Amino acid sequence: MSSKSETLSISKLKAKSTAGIAGRVLSIRTLGKICFLTLEDFTGQIQVVLSQPELIETAQSMAPQSIVQVEGEVLQIPQPQQPKQQPQQPELQLELQAHSLELIQKVTATPPIQLESPTVKEKLETLLEHRAISLRHKKIKPIFQIQAAIVQYYREFMLEFGCTEIFTPLMLASSSEGGSEIFEIDYFDKKATLAQSAQLYKQVMVGVFDRVFGLSKCFRAENSNTRRHTTEATQFEFEIGYIKDFSEVMQAQQECLRYILEKLYRTHKSQLEILGARQLMLPKGDFPCLTFDQACQLLEKQFQIQTQGWDDLSTEAERLLCEYARQQHGSDFIFITNFKKATFYAYKDQQGTYHNVDLLCKEMEISSGGRRIDSHSQLEAAIREAGMDPKDFQEYLSIFQFGMPPHGGFGMGLERLTMLICDVANIREATLFPSDPTTVASQKIG
Ligand code: AMO
Repeated sequence: MSSKSETLSISKLKAKSTAGIAGRVLSIRTLGKICFLTLEDFTGQIQVVLSQPELIETAQSMAPQSIVQVEGEVLQIPQPQQPKQQPQQPELQLELQAHSLELIQKVTATPPIQLESPTVKEKLETLLEHRAISLRHKKIKPIFQIQAAIVQYYREFMLEFGCTEIFTPLMLASSSEGGSEIFEIDYFDKKATLAQSAQLYKQVMVGVFDRVFGLSKCFRAENSNTRRHTTEATQFEFEIGYIKDFSEVMQAQQECLRYILEKLYRTHKSQLEILGARQLMLPKGDFPCLTFDQACQLLEKQFQIQTQGWDDLSTEAERLLCEYARQQHGSDFIFITNFKKATFYAYKDQQGTYHNVDLLCKEMEISSGGRRIDSHSQLEAAIREAGMDPKDFQEYLSIFQFGMPPHGGFGMGLERLTMLICDVANIREATLFPSDPTTVASQKIG
């Protein structure tokens, strides 16, 4: 490829200079004897103006999505008046008057998704069927820019909180959450499982670092065909030692979410506007909090829901409790504590109350957590009670014989949080390559 000018990224272009850029063609428009391309690279977009007949001929021979190299004069153009609703594209303030246009990869085919349409025209099913291409749509791509920022800010908060990041295995010998929702895999001549969470490993690592966090894949063989379940998800993991009470876990979680959201709403305004996402409401003080019993009383009294015999909340109950939090506390978040049902590692006090907590947001559970059992004998008994064999947990159990502080943490779904922040209706829209009971993500990619 012959190039006389320096190739720059779009955001580095300066008015009144000669430069080269390389990028993807988003649109091609011909008006009389002039042709306009919208070109995009990883830093932004710019309009390229072609007026030489041979360049126009090249432009007209290709379709959008072609990859090109352009050289020309960078000019400052007067800003057109934008309607209020449309976010400004500051990159379009400059324009490149092209001297040369080189096709790096010419596209002539029509993509299966209408990428040039300002709105998404296709059904979710079609978008997922052609995921590799639909992710390029300007109303889909921002979801994953926001997701990346959520992770960045989570990491920033956790490091500042004194946590060490950990990377835990995904192929395990036995269950990490109990229950039957486990994917089995052939591991040479044995059976192994895919991790349901990093639970046991993050507890082990509290014995090493006191405070840990991670971002870990979890696999759930749960035949739940809902808009908030996938069979492969990502969890924000958090676990700390030396807690006096599990309210310290809740405190850390609300501070973490406040940090992520306040920063995101400053840095990703334009992406959130493109998605038309309503901002999540954060209360001024602590997130509202109800015990499970209080939540049931409220559901009975205020919403006439029968809760007798419940040990967990129904989907509708979660929605109603979120409605209550929004109306009474100006908060899209509400903690529910002390459930009657718990995973085997959950701490139970002498009154038989579990020190566990779920965080609900907008209309669904986004995290679970609490204090964990830290006595070897109690944990051994709890594993047996859950129908499992303590022999399968020997190494995990050993940490409790060699000094474990009182500890607790939470696991929060990255895709559920992304879905709620981006205001999209289905978790699959907030998952790059979702797997669910009917489809494995990579089935067409390989
Ligand atoms: P739990 O099983 O409640 O707790 O999971 C924690 C959070 O992870 C997300 N999540 C899912 N997201 C999408 N699809 C799924 N199938 C799915 N399963 C879970 C949810 C959920 O709230 N070890 C504990 C956490 C802890 O106590 O630290 C655990 O895994 O947002």
